[in-house]
This record gives sequence, C-alpha cells and structure tokens, in this order.
Amino acid sequence: MKYPCRLDKFLSKAAHISRSEAKKYIRNKRVNVNNYKNINAQLSIHTGDRVSLDGNELSLTTHQYFMLNKPLGYVSTEAEANHPSALSLIDSPRKIHAAGRLDIDTSGLLLLTSDGQWSHKVTSPNSNKFKHYRVTLAEAISDDELRKLEQGILLRGEDKPTTPAKTARLCQTEFILSISEGRYHQVKRMCAALGNKVIALHREKIGEVTLDQALKPGEYRELSETEIRCFT
Ligand code: URA
Repeated sequence: MKYPCRLDKFLSKAAHISRSEAKKYIRNKRVNVNNYKNINAQLSIHTGDRVSLDGNELSLTTHQYFMLNKPLGYVSTEAEANHPSALSLIDSPRKIHAAGRLDIDTSGLLLLTSDGQWSHKVTSPNSNKFKHYRVTLAEAISDDELRKLEQGILLRGEDKPTTPAKTARLCQTEFILSISEGRYHQVKRMCAALGNKVIALHREKIGEVTLDQALKPGEYRELSETEIRCFT
C-alpha cells in the first residue's frame, strides 16, 4: 500500500478488518494517530505516523499467515532432539510460530504466523473459538459417555471440570469433539477420564477455519484475508 493513504484504509489493512468496521472503530474513539483521538476516517496517514487501535500500535509490515496439514511425527514448537519441527515445513523469510499446539502424534490443522498479536487471539480462551477434533478410540464409546464429555469432565490432577463441549458420533469408536479450551493434552485426558484411550487424533477446524481438503500431510497454504479476519 502506498503512502499517504486514508486512515480507514490503513486501519482495515493493518488490523484485518473491513472498511466499515474501521470507520466504526474510529467513530468509537478506539483509534488514535500520533496520540490524537479526535480524528476522522479521511485523515491522511504518512510514513512515520503512529496509528494505534485500543492502545496497540499497528504497522503495515506484512505478516504471514499459514495453515498446515501437520503430519504425524512433527512437533509444533522448535525442533526437539530427534523430532523435526512443523515450522521447518514452511518456506517463509519471516520468523514464524504456531498459533496453538498439536502433539507429536496428532495430525491436522495447525495455524502458523509471524504475527504475535494475531496468534494470541487464536489461542486466547476469551476468543471462545471451538477447536474440532476427529477422535479415534481404542474402545467403543457410549452415548452416555459422549454426554459426559459434553457436560464437562474432571481431568486427573485438576479441580475444575472442562467447559461444555460438543460431540458428533461417527461410529462406535470415532467421534468429533469440539472444545473451546486448550488444556494440556486435553482431548486425550478427557477420554482417559472415561477409562478409554485415544489412538488417533486429527484437528479439522479452528473457529470458522477448516483444514483445506486439498492439503496432503506436510502441505500448507497461505490463509485468505477472510480466514485471517476470523480471529480479529
Ligand atoms: N488434545 C490433545 O490431547 N492433543 C492435541 O494435540 C490437541 C488436543
């Protein structure tokens, strides 16, 4: 984008929001330019101007946003001894990190970005985004047990039950579990609390962003502007 440019256009690009949302934020005094709040959407922004939204300074540095179909055997953090990192599968000139984690033996949707503020929104419990997992169990699961998972279940070593979840049965030993929290090994521990064992786990969706069916394990693509906006 070229400078000078209108404030609403700058805001829409930098914060991944629509032009009408940008105008609303400006009207609601959530935006300031060089510490002034008394501004309007047509204001010209020049190189070096400091634009903030809710106190966070925005920049037009182009961040990158990806979805990866994480293969089994990869960690979602930096590489560990003998285990390759999912980050190494992405060809990016920027330093990227995973927005949330998947275990080494979990496959599926992993979001990666260079934008720390964005990944915070993806993972923040306040964002209330459901993560959808296809769970394969060692033993059949009953309808009663699915209800227990939905209502909230006490995990070993914790004193607060999990928050309400959603389930959809696929067969006797497979179901979709949708949870909005991200506790340590949560899905495996929820199933362990029922005396069962997860033998395969695949994440299909986070919020409104679904793993692209065209991506084979290990393949990735950039997120669309609409997908990026799902978390802003
Ligand atoms: N829950 C788990 O147990 N493992 C994952 O990788 C993700 C959620």
